[in-house]
Amino acid sequence: MGFKEVPSAIIFCLLLLFCLGCRCLASELVATQTATLKVDASPQLARKIPETLFGIFFEEINHAGAGGIWAELVSNRGFEAGGPHTPSNIDPWSIIGDDSSIFVATDRTSCFSQNIVALRMEVLCDDCPTGGVGIYNPGFWGMNIEDGKAYNLVMYVNSPETTDLTISLTSSDGLQNLASATVTVSGASNWTKLEQKLVAKGTNRTSRLQITCNKKGVVWFDQVSLMPEDTYKGHGFRTELISMLLDLKPRFLRFPGGCFVEGDWLRNAFRWRESIGPWEERPGHFGDVWHYWTDDGLGYYEFLQLAEDLGAAPIWVFNNGVSHNDEVDTAAIAPFVKDVLDSLEFARGSANSTWGSVRASMGHPEPFPVKYVAIGNEDCGKKFYRGNYLKFYNAIRQAYPDIQMISNCDGSSKPLDHPADLYDFHVYTDSKTLFNMRTTFDRTSRSGPKAFVSEYAVWRSDAGRGSLLASLAEAAFLTGLEKNSDIVQMASYAPLFVNDNDQTWNPDAIVFNSWQHYGTPSYWMQTLFRESSGAMIHPITISSGYSGSLAASAITWQDSDTSYLRIKVVNFGSDAVSLTISTSGLEASVNALGSTTTVLTSANVMDENSFSNPTKVAPVKSELSNAAEQMQVTLAPHSFNTFDLALAQSKLVAEM
Ligand code: AHR
Repeated sequence: MGFKEVPSAIIFCLLLLFCLGCRCLASELVATQTATLKVDASPQLARKIPETLFGIFFEEINHAGAGGIWAELVSNRGFEAGGPHTPSNIDPWSIIGDDSSIFVATDRTSCFSQNIVALRMEVLCDDCPTGGVGIYNPGFWGMNIEDGKAYNLVMYVNSPETTDLTISLTSSDGLQNLASATVTVSGASNWTKLEQKLVAKGTNRTSRLQITCNKKGVVWFDQVSLMPEDTYKGHGFRTELISMLLDLKPRFLRFPGGCFVEGDWLRNAFRWRESIGPWEERPGHFGDVWHYWTDDGLGYYEFLQLAEDLGAAPIWVFNNGVSHNDEVDTAAIAPFVKDVLDSLEFARGSANSTWGSVRASMGHPEPFPVKYVAIGNEDCGKKFYRGNYLKFYNAIRQAYPDIQMISNCDGSSKPLDHPADLYDFHVYTDSKTLFNMRTTFDRTSRSGPKAFVSEYAVWRSDAGRGSLLASLAEAAFLTGLEKNSDIVQMASYAPLFVNDNDQTWNPDAIVFNSWQHYGTPSYWMQTLFRESSGAMIHPITISSGYSGSLAASAITWQDSDTSYLRIKVVNFGSDAVSLTISTSGLEASVNALGSTTTVLTSANVMDENSFSNPTKVAPVKSELSNAAEQMQVTLAPHSFNTFDLALAQSKLVAEM
């Protein structure tokens, strides 16, 4: 067919395609800034980053543990949350029935002496309404019950007469029945443990647990627990939330706080001793800083187990006799020191030792390798901090010479006035300040204790509930920590988790509810640093009139069979940048095949993720076909970019 014969419709289409093509080209990135990044990858100038550099900080805040990673579905399972004086509030438990059919009240008749409150339920009806009367627990803003999955109920009951109870998992209004079983309470007036597996025949994300009865009589209840059968390694952790942590490859786990460790008042601080042993016997406690009750199913032992499951070094932050409002005088601190030494024996002692045997009885005969402890949290300015600190420091040094101790006092600008292996450094600030803090540790003395940046984040208006902007400033800050990792040994973002129903602290790295979860941009940013711990860092220089908006670092790291030179560049500004990267000193050649680039960006710098759009701001990986020692790339405005150059020889890292 000759040109003359081409129908006008086809010509129209071709013209349309041409115009569309022009529009596409017009919307491609037009770099208005240029920059040159030089990497000197010669082995003589490379330095190993500590194996421990990037980890996580888990605090019991925002219902991160209770109603979070700890999979227990019943809230206030021991009826202790209303306090020791009875009658007490049984919230969030509630009643099915009315005054004429049921009377429910707490009393102090439990078989567990440490948590003596129990619930007495008196059924008043002979001819009870269909479905019976009883009690229900909605869990933590609803239980996620899923079709085909099994749930294990355990409860302690006591009744003078033999009674049948119906245990059900239902929708929040009780109308949809997801699973049901009848259990018989023998009328021996003895506390008995009842166990019942329930398999769901439907899915409901906001379910409740019901315990009902059709017959007049009295039954006492205590320690009512409902655990999903499927938890991570069977250790009681919510699998999908653990997998978010595993994706960070955390090298350490700092726990359990934060302010949670201190308490507003010492009487409400976390007590390790009361959080171990059989879960039924744990008293639980009210965390008065973050204002909620925890049954302490996630206790000291479980935190150590969590660290082991994550392959992370445990960092035990203990209370040093200081809370937000009261303090133990150094003259009277000795029993607190003894208590902490016992906690270390619990973790590290042999299975024959006093406390090690308790650990062994809980299922872990092998010691947990606690190598770091933090003496308090944010308490440096407190009256008795130094005095108490020294008592703990000296006792621990003597008993466990290998344990590294972390002081609450900042040693980044002036030397500490007391001995320490590490000092804690916390920063919550706006994005510009944190971006500029990428050089903070450049000015720090190279001698003395090393820094543990155990809490960092951009907050307030720059962060919203987790913005791209926040993550860019944090990424820049972390490149500074990598470069200064001769004196910065560890770093972790804070806080780690938030249950969407209790957003006490914004922003957080991982947001969840009973059945959904997503990572904020700050979470995704951290995934791009997960290969840095233990990698080799190389010097870089940036030349540009725009360098005040750029931050970068370069490392070599290795996966199972390939070495990579990873160059990370943050473009904190609003201009696109044409960046020339030139690398010298490499002992291997760059292989374009296998090289990749990853970018974390979005249309608007304040963009956030959400349950409905969980990866609106998430890393996008693609091939880097022009990978070479000299290459040209374009950085989008407000973007965090990594360039992974595959190196031809896999032995490169090992040799350094
Ligand atoms: O991460 C939230 C809180 O911030 C921590 O509990 C405390 O250490 C800091 O003030």
